[in-house]
Amino acid sequence: TAMPNTIIVGAQWGDEGKGKIIDVLTEGVDLVVRSQGGNNAGHTVIVGGDKYILHLIPSGILHPGKLCVLSHGVVLDPTGLAKEILGLRQRGIPVGPENLRVSDSAHLVLPYHRLLDEFNEDARGDDKIGTTKRGIGPAYSDKATRVGIRTGDLRHPELLREKLRTRLSLLRQTLPAHLHTDPRMDHEAVLAEVLAAAEHILPLLDGTVALLHRHLATGASLLFEGAQGTFLDLDCGTYPFVTSSNTISSGACTGSGVPPTLIDSVYGVVKAYTTRVGGGPFPTEDDFLSDRLHAMGREYGATTGRARRCGWFDAVAGRYASLVNGLDRIAVTNLDGLDGVPTLKICTAYHFHGQTLDLPPTDAADLAHCQPVYEELPGWSEPIHTVTTYAQLPQNARHYLERLSQLLNAKLHLVSVGPDRAQTMQAE
Ligand code: GDP
Ligand code: IMO
Ligand code: MG
Repeated sequence: TAMPNTIIVGAQWGDEGKGKIIDVLTEGVDLVVRSQGGNNAGHTVIVGGDKYILHLIPSGILHPGKLCVLSHGVVLDPTGLAKEILGLRQRGIPVGPENLRVSDSAHLVLPYHRLLDEFNEDARGDDKIGTTKRGIGPAYSDKATRVGIRTGDLRHPELLREKLRTRLSLLRQTLPAHLHTDPRMDHEAVLAEVLAAAEHILPLLDGTVALLHRHLATGASLLFEGAQGTFLDLDCGTYPFVTSSNTISSGACTGSGVPPTLIDSVYGVVKAYTTRVGGGPFPTEDDFLSDRLHAMGREYGATTGRARRCGWFDAVAGRYASLVNGLDRIAVTNLDGLDGVPTLKICTAYHFHGQTLDLPPTDAADLAHCQPVYEELPGWSEPIHTVTTYAQLPQNARHYLERLSQLLNAKLHLVSVGPDRAQTMQAE
């Protein structure tokens, strides 16, 4: 039985283990769609000890016979995508029009966007967002300002040259002189880089709105692979410490042209604790947990290698994530990261200037002043990474999971106790 059309989102600050869960769920669907973000994402999939980190290509690519789609809502770094395609082929994973299609109206991330990303971050001084420096924000800015260049432009090199010349001469008027000679600002150099990558991308270009609706009409089922997480959403996240796209479930609709009426289910992925990479408020951040996880060699970023900040599970944030995404099911990952912690804490409310809040405040500065109110649950002492059925989990682990599911008001569907595809169990 095919899975209904499902949107998968990260319900925290990204890196929840979406890649792993998508890889597991791909079995039951026909198409896997990435509809926002770019190669700022890093989705880890481990199959039989082989590790893959996917940045742009949907995590479904490791399953033969599934069609993966990059729809118009993504921002696409052509050089990054070409590298990713070649890297997978080198490892024996076929990538071609039979299993990967790329929208011809996705905006390109170009070398000058990476330059701008660095420049903007430097200009913020002590107040850095801590971006991945992949040029994501500047590329979405160009899209919104209507000076962007799109994948379809790769089909017309002469017009592309003119568009690049125009864009870069405009940019020179706004940037300091010392940057004008940077090779990332030279339209001929940019053109040469882009055309080299285009060779690998042109055969994959397609009108993906028509493509997706053609498949939907025949009853095919779709899985939308969210990137980043709810609190990195441009509108609903901890602005300005966010990414530049809509990471919540509705972003999958605008980013693909598949309407809300055709979506059957929204699936949230959460870690059993919380992590955040980059700047910005994080009420449940905890040094004890951070040190513990880093000492195990865990919680280093898949894209930038940065150490992730770690903290307790935040159910105030979780409640909000459940509301804005419309979560009906959840997967809890990295439960094994809590092995041996004697007392587990879950944040169930915030104290803020004498008030008790059950949803996060909208202002990042206010969120930074929220004090978590914790509920404590007993932990378990035995390692759980070899457990294969829900019933075999320690009772305290099951209690913890059931409490998370209750607080998020969503059904617990999958539990993950290790990074491998095989270390996953169904809870229902
Ligand atoms: P994504 O961006 O949401 O796909 O998540 P990332 O791949 O960036 O980060 C999740 C990390 O946790 C990766 O290193 C995964 O291999 C790892 N991982 C996922 N699930 C589990 C789990 O249940 N246990 C352990 N130990 N690691 C996991
Ligand atoms: P996945 O899909 C975690 C964070 C950056 C920074 C902020 C803005 O692997 O979960 P950007 O480069 O997007 O302008 O950076 O967003 N960030 C992520 N954090 N996981 C991600 O993706 C992220 N993508 C961006 O660290 O704080
Ligand atoms: Mg990641």
